[in-house]
Amino acid sequence: MSNKSVSLHIDDQLITVPEGTTILEAAQSMNIEIPTLCWAENLTPVNVCRLCVVEAEGARTLIPACSRTCEDGAAVKTNTDRVRENRRMVLELLDSANDLSQSDNLQELISDYGADSDRYTDPVKTTTPPKVEDDLFVRAYERCVLCYKCVEACGDDAQFTFAIAVAGRGFDAKISTEHDVPLPESACVYCGNCIGVCPTNALQFKTEFDMREAANWRPEEQSVTETICSYCGVGCTLELHTQDNQIVKVTSPADHSVTSGHLCVKGRFGWQYVQAPVYRAPSSDSEQSAK
Ligand code: SF4
Ligand code: SF4
Ligand code: FES
Repeated sequence: MSNKSVSLHIDDQLITVPEGTTILEAAQSMNIEIPTLCWAENLTPVNVCRLCVVEAEGARTLIPACSRTCEDGAAVKTNTDRVRENRRMVLELLDSANDLSQSDNLQELISDYGADSDRYTDPVKTTTPPKVEDDLFVRAYERCVLCYKCVEACGDDAQFTFAIAVAGRGFDAKISTEHDVPLPESACVYCGNCIGVCPTNALQFKTEFDMREAANWRPEEQSVTETICSYCGVGCTLELHTQDNQIVKVTSPADHSVTSGHLCVKGRFGWQYVQAPVYRAPSSDSEQSAK
C-alpha cells in the first residue's frame, strides 16, 4: 500500500484511507456492514458474486465494494434502494438454483433482504449427489454457488496445489478436479483449506456429513477450544470444535498471523488419535493369573 492517502464520503461520512484501500475495507473500518460472498479476508477478491455492490455518485453501474479501491473525492452509498434491490436479486437467483440451507449467513441475508426465490416459476435446483470418496471430506456441489473461494485456497492464495478449478461454461460450470477424477486420484493433498473457506457447506468434514445424516449435528451445543498444533514447529493455531466431548472438526482463525486460516492435512484431520481408546498394558498381577 502506498504512502498517499485518499479522502471520500461513505454514507455521508468523511473518511481518509491509504491509497489502495478497497471500499469494503474502508466501510468495515467505519463499522458499516456490506454483505459479501466471494470475498474473504484471507483470499484475493475474485469479484464474481456481486453481493457487495454499492452506488458511487456519477457512476453508471453499481460497483463491487470488495475489489474497487477508494478514489479521492468519491461519494459512495452502501444501502440505497437500488443497491438493496440488486443484492436481493442476487440472493434470489442463488437461492433458486442452490441448496443454501446450511449457510446461516446466507439464510440471514435472504431474510434481511426479503429475497423470495419462489417467485421464479420454474427454478432449476442443482441436484448433484454428494461425492463421498474418502474418510476426510465430502463435496456436495448442489450447495455450490461457484464463489471460487475453494479454487483460490487450493491455488495461489494458500496451498499452491491447484487440484481443483472451474470446469465448463454457463449453466455447465462446476468445480472439478482434473478430468473430474475422484479426489483421492487427483492432486489434492487434503489440507482441507477449501472446506475452511466454503461459505455454503458444499465442502464439509466427513464427520459433519455423517452426523447430519444421523440427525446428530448440533452446532448450538458445540464449543470451540483454541490450541496449538503439535505436529511440527510451525505452530499453527487450531480451533477444536467439540460436541459431546468429541472433536467433530478443526478450523483455524482467518485473521491469525501464522495460518491466515489455512492448515495442512495433519493439523486439519490428524486428530482422531485424541479420541482413540486408551491402551493399558496388562498389570503384572493379571499377567501372573493368566499363566
Ligand atoms: S465448493 Fe464452496 S468454496 Fe468452492 S466454489 Fe462452491 S461454494 Fe464456493
Ligand atoms: S497444521 Fe501442519 S503446518 Fe501447521 S503446525 Fe500442524 S503440522 Fe505444522
Ligand atoms: S463479495 Fe464482492 S463480488 Fe463477491
